Amino acid sequence: MQDSLYKPSEPEENIELLLFYVPQAQKHFGIEKVRQFLFELHGEYRISHDGSLMQAFGVSLKTDPANAVIKSEHGKIAYYMLNEQPLTWTLLAPFVLEGLVLAKTNSRDGVGFLDIGTGSGVYAVFAAKMFEFFGLEDSIVGIDVNPRALEFAKRNLEKNDLVERVELISEWFENTTFPAGSVKTVGIWPPYHPCDAQYQQFIPRHAWGGEDMQEVWRSQIQGCYPALADNGVLIFNQQSPGGSDWRGAQAIAELDHLAPGASVIFMDLFGPYSITKFLDAIYPNNDQADYRLRMEKKYTTIHYLVGAIVKDGLGRKIKFSHKLDNLPGWGNDPGSRIGCHRGIADLIRTAVSLK
Ligand SMILES: C[S@@+](CC[C@H](N)C(=O)[O-])C[C@H]1O[C@@H](n2cnc3c(N)ncnc32)[C@H](O)[C@@H]1O
Repeated sequence: MQDSLYKPSEPEENIELLLFYVPQAQKHFGIEKVRQFLFELHGEYRISHDGSLMQAFGVSLKTDPANAVIKSEHGKIAYYMLNEQPLTWTLLAPFVLEGLVLAKTNSRDGVGFLDIGTGSGVYAVFAAKMFEFFGLEDSIVGIDVNPRALEFAKRNLEKNDLVERVELISEWFENTTFPAGSVKTVGIWPPYHPCDAQYQQFIPRHAWGGEDMQEVWRSQIQGCYPALADNGVLIFNQQSPGGSDWRGAQAIAELDHLAPGASVIFMDLFGPYSITKFLDAIYPNNDQADYRLRMEKKYTTIHYLVGAIVKDGLGRKIKFSHKLDNLPGWGNDPGSRIGCHRGIADLIRTAVSLK
């Protein structure tokens, strides 16, 4: 099978939209430098057919393939759907750049970019390349609780000559301490698989986000938002259920109390999808029927969101309609959203049948 290649066919309009959100970066680094960076962010990237290799923005990364079966406890599978990551960085890196220019930490040893749940190290690697491009010396820290993920992160840093640039911490994020106001920008990528709580033990840690997929999202925002400096930026991807009760995605509605006063600029990357169709595709044959009923009573839609939360005290909610095409989307193949969840659902099915 062939590798997948992604490249927006006409990136100019998207670049113009993003430029609007980086006025201070344009002043600080010059319009042409920022425009060149955005242009490179919209370049072609390549993913191997098994989802385990990526080449983008001048770096290459490796993780477990989509169908990996890792047996040891130490080696909980570290597969991360690499085909969405460059796309996410294309849309969010500009917000990180603006945050780095605007935020002032309250100590000299503050952190420039804190990558919570670094996994393969992908965003720490991308950030390190961006810092290099702009000559930024702020520190970059990646944290993950999964030792196998950190092995990949370490190897990916080595592969791209960035070992000196990123500090890796093997820890459950909530147990680490970053003083209030000490971090300029943060990234969170919370686990995302929808399933009945009784089955969480059968799926990898990177997929467990609670029945509504929001538990880790909530705890990570509440855990890291106080550490963010004023005007600091928290970027995220998050899969969220929703519907008219939430005027869209629940994750965005809940920000009012998770990050009071913050503004959020977000994109519903592939557009809202029916929660019934989504769960039908993941759990065919009436698997997890009670759980599905509970979800369908509460929600009508599912959203894959990427965005930036800005600690600016303005409390604005801005929906950004990107102009990208050639996106991987909700599709059924292993590298796309539904395909990835089907793979995780198979792990539950196998574990339950072996009991
Ligand atoms: C969905 S994956 C994202 C990985 C990577 N950033 C990416 O996008 O490819 C989530 C990662 O967060 C880690 N994780 C989840 N909760 C965590 C926590 N509280 N502290 C540290 N790591 C956590 C998981 O082990 C997993 O590697």
